[in-house]
Amino acid sequence: MEPLSDRYLREHTSPLPEALDWIEKQTGIHTNYPQMLSGKVQGSLLKMLVEISGARNVLEIGSFTGYSTACMALGLPEGGHIDALEINDELEDLMRAGWERAGVQDRITLHIGDARKTLGSLAPKVYDLVFIDANKREYPEYFELVFPLLRQGGLLVADDVMLGGKVYADPLPQDAQTRGLLTFNDIMKDDPRVEVVMIPLKDGLSLIRKK
Ligand SMILES: C[S@@+](CC[C@H](N)C(=O)[O-])C[C@H]1O[C@@H](n2cnc3c(N)ncnc32)[C@H](O)[C@@H]1O
Repeated sequence: MEPLSDRYLREHTSPLPEALDWIEKQTGIHTNYPQMLSGKVQGSLLKMLVEISGARNVLEIGSFTGYSTACMALGLPEGGHIDALEINDELEDLMRAGWERAGVQDRITLHIGDARKTLGSLAPKVYDLVFIDANKREYPEYFELVFPLLRQGGLLVADDVMLGGKVYADPLPQDAQTRGLLTFNDIMKDDPRVEVVMIPLKDGLSLIRKK
């Protein structure tokens, strides 16, 4: 059941187009882990971050059923574009149907495959905003690969950085996902090339600015 605080946040966040509800509903029907979808509050924040940063070129690592992709695409200015990276090819039809319903299909290029490979083929493209929301074990690798593609002053948004509280549990769990995020969060804190703010939205969201 949805916690009351989440419900309150959702109900007091401006409405999104009907297509986003549709994607959420279809995700519940057709996928095994619908809770991976970011949802209205986080999707609205991503859309607003794209809008207020004026980002024209956006990169997403881990698109799932395309909900967060569609939200960010709705925030793009005329001529703006998103490269969406997703490893699971079974999700492609659902993603494309949702993007079409939201009227944003022309702003998105879908790259099916392991993001760690795809990222190597995107240069010399440069991005204003990057959203990382894929395999938690691989966050440190994504950062290494994405950093050269992010413009100076650009924004990196990383999802699930608190991993249900596992990153500050005592004793610390030793599983690969927790270790991946512990390493990533420490790099963000210590790397002098970036500035980070961690926000306790859902499972934790880090806003990271390239200096
Ligand atoms: C948490 S879901 C993304 C949710 C989506 N961003 C949203 O907000 O609705 C994580 C996704 O990352 C994908 N993924 C995991 N490892 C990946 C990789 N190495 N390359 C590309 N996608 C990956 C998974 O298949 C899954 O669909």
